[in-house]
Amino acid sequence: MYWMKQSSIISFRLPLIVCLLTCGLLYCFSYLIEHTFEKISIQQNVTELNSVITSVERELTYYSPDENRDEFFQNLLLILTGHHHLFVYIIDDAGKIVYRTRGPNLSIALPQQDFERLISQNSTAIWNIDKSSYRIGASRVMLDGGRQYTTIVAVGRDLQLDFISRLRNGLGLLIAISCVLALIGSLISIYYTQKPINRLIKKIERINMKSLNYRISTASVPVKYESLVKAFNNMLHRMEDVFERQRNFTADIAHEMRTPITNLTTQTQIVLNNARSTEEYREILYSNLEEYEKMSQMISDMLFLAQADNHQLVPNLIDIDLYSMISLMCEYFEPLTDEKNITFELEGNCSHIQGDKMMLGRAIINIISNAIRYTSENQTIKINLSQLSPKKVQIVIANPGKKIESHHLPHLFDRFYRVDQSRHRNNKDSSGTGIGLAIVKSIIDTHKGHIYVESDDISTRFIIKLPTVISRHNH
Ligand SMILES: Nc1ncnc2c1ncn2[C@@H]1O[C@H](COP(=O)(O)OP(=O)(O)O)[C@@H](O)[C@H]1O
Ligand SMILES: [Mg+2]
Repeated sequence: MYWMKQSSIISFRLPLIVCLLTCGLLYCFSYLIEHTFEKISIQQNVTELNSVITSVERELTYYSPDENRDEFFQNLLLILTGHHHLFVYIIDDAGKIVYRTRGPNLSIALPQQDFERLISQNSTAIWNIDKSSYRIGASRVMLDGGRQYTTIVAVGRDLQLDFISRLRNGLGLLIAISCVLALIGSLISIYYTQKPINRLIKKIERINMKSLNYRISTASVPVKYESLVKAFNNMLHRMEDVFERQRNFTADIAHEMRTPITNLTTQTQIVLNNARSTEEYREILYSNLEEYEKMSQMISDMLFLAQADNHQLVPNLIDIDLYSMISLMCEYFEPLTDEKNITFELEGNCSHIQGDKMMLGRAIINIISNAIRYTSENQTIKINLSQLSPKKVQIVIANPGKKIESHHLPHLFDRFYRVDQSRHRNNKDSSGTGIGLAIVKSIIDTHKGHIYVESDDISTRFIIKLPTVISRHNH
């Protein structure tokens, strides 16, 4: 549910951002257009006003309206033809109207002082009356005779204002439509991009502990999500593996503990049924002791592995001469090998390495004891040491014997894994619980080394590669 919520938040936020961006951009654009038009129309009006005022002023200086009345009015008409919505108002210093076009009464347009300001500053002003708007300008001409004429000119702005307002409405509509389209467009595109993700989420949500074997088919998702699905499937695979091993591990521990305890219980019951001689008791107790030791060994092995899992194994690093260490071990195994007339052949050499003597010894003992177990009588176990590089040595322990099928090889180092899984082993069976190689692997891992096994019809070979010096960067 949390996922769904998250995705729906994302799917609305993005279209909204797209919509707002489109809106903002178009708004700026339309503001610019409107502003430009406004500026142009003001400029047009001002130019028109100034040109008319200049022409009128010129005529006033050439032909005084008192003396050359006809010429003055004729020329004035010529000036005004071609100008639409333009109104002129001329008064003399006595306040008498010299000329006035039909239309608004410009004398009431502004208070006296504002007219004076327009004249002195040569500026224009806006005048709104009867739902109409005008831009007005004014000027005063002083003639030689001392007479004074004031000219007020107004030009109608209604057409321009109407155009600008229509432009504004049109642009507003354009913005609104674009925003809605952007919103719908991005919602649709997000819907289509999220659809496969949502489907994926539903599938993932259905996976639980019991369906860890489920894999999402890459065919059901678009190509761009294929690698995501593959990564997820891989993770499922790893999890399944871990869970599976965990499950088996617990079952195996229980089983391995139960077998010796059952043996002990039955033996004790049998013994208690009849009276025995001291010698018999002693014998039985010895046999029990073996079981106790086995159990104790297994428990300490489990503890060792648990420590390795928790990265609590800290190797006590000292300088180790592998050759002398291994040849000592071969001697230690002599009673066992003599029994089967098995010989060791230790060859090669390598530099000293850094390592924990106890741990590495334990690892090699484990491998050698396996080798002895699986080697037939009168055969030779070959141990070879070599220097792979100045910083890497290799130990190969090879024993002749039955080939281990290749599908077993990757699992040999798993806990409780035995090639012969049968659990009906009697007490005399010397094979262990199947955790020997798991311990070997964790020891080699702790030493930042690498171990693997090869097997063919001739021999089974355990190959260990170890760094001569252990540093944090060896991995
Ligand atoms: N040298 C070997 N030759 C053949 N099989 C081997 C050899 N070493 C180990 N194995 C196989 O690997 C399994 C796991 O070994 P290990 O972990 O030491 O367990 P265990 O010795 O307790 O059975 C053994 O049960 C055996 O099947
Ligand atoms: Mg073993």
